[in-house]
Amino acid sequence: MAAPVVDADYLKEIEKARRDLRALIASKNCAPIMLRLAWHDAGTFDVNTKTGGPNGSIRHEEEFTHGSNAGLKIAIDLCEPVKRKHPRITYADLYQLAGVVAVEVTGGPTIDFVPGRRDSSVCPREGRLPDAKQGAPHLRDIFYRMGLSDKDIVALSGGHTLGRAHPERSGFEGAWTVEPLKFDNSYFIELLKGETEGLLKLPTDNALLHDPEFRRYVELYAKDEELFFKDYAESHKKLSELGFTSR
Ligand code: HEM
Repeated sequence: MAAPVVDADYLKEIEKARRDLRALIASKNCAPIMLRLAWHDAGTFDVNTKTGGPNGSIRHEEEFTHGSNAGLKIAIDLCEPVKRKHPRITYADLYQLAGVVAVEVTGGPTIDFVPGRRDSSVCPREGRLPDAKQGAPHLRDIFYRMGLSDKDIVALSGGHTLGRAHPERSGFEGAWTVEPLKFDNSYFIELLKGETEGLLKLPTDNALLHDPEFRRYVELYAKDEELFFKDYAESHKKLSELGFTSR
């Protein structure tokens, strides 16, 4: 699909959709899965081939049935009434807007949102998203392929301040923090505390502790929530705009 014409009318629809998403996320308590949807649509980007990325392709069965996307059909379906109300807005913009609103309404930083992403029906092959059972070299392989940095890896991992793992989806279980509907820096505080009864740590979360470059950021973000919010907002904007050059 061609890039949408971002005129005054499109911007107005974005603001209306933003309000609808705020209401939807508040009433369904679905901020975590909305953030995960935005991340999994965007996180397939390949900086070398300029394929994948935040282009709405995750709405297709071919992609949402990838193992790593288990459960995300719920978020896709939740977005559908908002799309029907605002049909001019692309899926690509809608999913990224949902991610930005999810962070905002749970108390996180304001993330700058620039509309105008095109939709694509070309689904990336399975295997572009990170595997939670692996370590630091794998995280670097995956995020460097997107064109992101060590700092982005740690800041964005702070997204696990929201939500939980579901055994029937990923095989993992539990939340990372005590308040999984509150966006704050508690993910990093819990990570530094080590294993805590009832809280989850994926192998990829623990990898952030054992790699000295990653750990530097973990320690900074655990100490300084303002810095985490600033860096998170920057990294999230980058993630949400991977390959987005239509302006
Ligand atoms: C959930 C892995 C990065 C946001 C999960 C789950 C896994 C996982 C296994 C559990 C899914 C389930 O069972 O429902 C990873 C790995 C990452 C990563 C290996 C590599 C660094 C990110 C990033 C973000 C994010 C960058 C957002 C910025 C979330 C959220 C949930 C989640 C919000 C909770 C979803 C819910 O409650 O339904 N992740 N993730 N993750 N992830 Fe990640």
